[in-house]
Amino acid sequence: MSGSGKQSDRLAFLGQLAGGLAHEIKNPLSTMMVTLQLLKEDWDEETSPRAMRTRQKLELLLKEVHRLEGILDEFLRYARGADKSLAPCDLNDLVQEVLDFIEPETARFGIRIRFAPAADLPECRVDRNAIKQALFNIVINAQHAMENDGGELIVTTERLADPEAAKLRIVDTGCGIEPDVLTRIFDVYYSTKQRGTGLGLPTSRRFIEEHDGSITVQSDVGRGTAVEVILPIAGPAASTVVGEGAEEGAGDG
Ligand SMILES: Nc1ncnc2c1ncn2[C@@H]1O[C@H](COP(=O)(O)OP(=O)(O)O)[C@@H](O)[C@H]1O
Ligand SMILES: [Mg+2]
Repeated sequence: MSGSGKQSDRLAFLGQLAGGLAHEIKNPLSTMMVTLQLLKEDWDEETSPRAMRTRQKLELLLKEVHRLEGILDEFLRYARGADKSLAPCDLNDLVQEVLDFIEPETARFGIRIRFAPAADLPECRVDRNAIKQALFNIVINAQHAMENDGGELIVTTERLADPEAAKLRIVDTGCGIEPDVLTRIFDVYYSTKQRGTGLGLPTSRRFIEEHDGSITVQSDVGRGTAVEVILPIAGPAASTVVGEGAEEGAGDG
């Protein structure tokens, strides 16, 4: 046992170190963002070819800085884990919120959303933000999988009896996942997308497992993908809530 204890200490330490670094990088990055924005405004009135070229370059820089911020945010979210301020939550409402949020974007890609909420779904004890983020990462992947040809995003919820739990199914009619890819989708930094971070599903899994829940993915290449999330009604057991101290390092400032 002592061996695995050392290993998890080491991982917690590395998590703290990396989290702290990511956090430190965020401040200068936002200074750069603001400064670039001001610089761009300085050039906004001029119409000379030189001004236009400069604006284009500044816009590219802004875009890349923005992207870096996104990467750091995703990293910090993963490294810190869920907040675990637990409260009873209507998961149907939560799903609806996530779907409402992405709907304008999915509509643009010809993706239809269908949601069939279970009427008898009991409230679950969860950290609302964490579960929302976990679901968001899943539906964004579904959206990416259907961006070329459109399709359907079908979400259903269901009450499970023994033990009492809520089951969420998120199905898309997108490109599907090759079997050799499927074995790696929960690996940190694994991504098949040009601009993917590979942190979406690992974060979803971490947050869901911190609630003593589970996530499974099935896929048919060319036909689509089904993600199943199960969350116990009672919420995570006390031992899971306390956490292991790994998320304390990065600070919140
Ligand atoms: N619904 C889906 N349809 C097809 N592929 C998927 C789907 N969800 C996840 N994937 C695959 O899993 C990989 C990892 O997903 P994720 O961890 O969210 O990282 P990212 O989205 O940044 O690539 C994706 O790059 C993609 O290959
Ligand atoms: Mg993703």
